[in-house]
Amino acid sequence: QQQQNLGMVKEKSVSVILLAGGKGKRMGANMPKQYLPLLAQPIALYSFYTFAPMPQVKEIVVVCDPSYKDIFQDANEKIAVPLKFALPGKERQDSVFSGLQEIDTDSELVCIHDSARPLVSTEDVEKVLKDGQLNGAAVLGVPVKATIKEANSDSFVVRTLDRKTLWEMQTPQIIKPALLVKGFELVNREGLEVTDDVSIVEHLKHPVYITEGSYTNIKVTTPDDMLLAERILNIK
Ligand code: CTP
Ligand code: MG
Repeated sequence: QQQQNLGMVKEKSVSVILLAGGKGKRMGANMPKQYLPLLAQPIALYSFYTFAPMPQVKEIVVVCDPSYKDIFQDANEKIAVPLKFALPGKERQDSVFSGLQEIDTDSELVCIHDSARPLVSTEDVEKVLKDGQLNGAAVLGVPVKATIKEANSDSFVVRTLDRKTLWEMQTPQIIKPALLVKGFELVNREGLEVTDDVSIVEHLKHPVYITEGSYTNIKVTTPDDMLLAERILNIK
């Protein structure tokens, strides 16, 4: 029986894997998007500063190119959460795997977050951590507002999906480490491709709980998202 938002996540029981190893091709900037200044602060530091002071967090593993380590090390001087680094892989899932190799074996939960989502709130992180603790795997998501249609390769509509059943996935995604390790074994053995972390768990046929998050937890992907993120920060 799965339940929402009960139970407690213990102090120092969560390993955060902060993904900052992408190249940001769709942004097309002169540096990876997670280091672009958003109101004068690099995008990746927003979520770093959200996770670092949380009592549940035991450590943060930043997956990034070594040339950007300083940004996190300097930020950490003010907070001093145990900080580790891992090398990025070719695809996002390779970066997750790389980060997973560095986490403390005693951790109860892994919290995987895209550094390109600077606006996630502490409240939403707390909610999804609790749901992850209860269910083994949980992910922040929001109900899809738009009507989504499936089309063929010639751009003709094939069918309309039932909006009531559709959720847009965000991060963080919370997974018990043993489950993630088992999932990766399967995914690597069968050569499966996955775009998000909980689909690794879905391959194991283990249930994944969706925690309703906030529409403001956007992923900065293209230049107009920079403007949107600024506007959201200004009204917060
Ligand atoms: N990421 C990563 N390692 C990769 C690919 C992505 O750590 N090999 C991270 C990105 O830094 C980002 C998050 O995963 O924080 C989500 O990926 P996405 O938004 O696709 O970022 P990019 O891959 O950098 O952007 P693009 O796809 O436009 O190149
Ligand atoms: Mg990408």
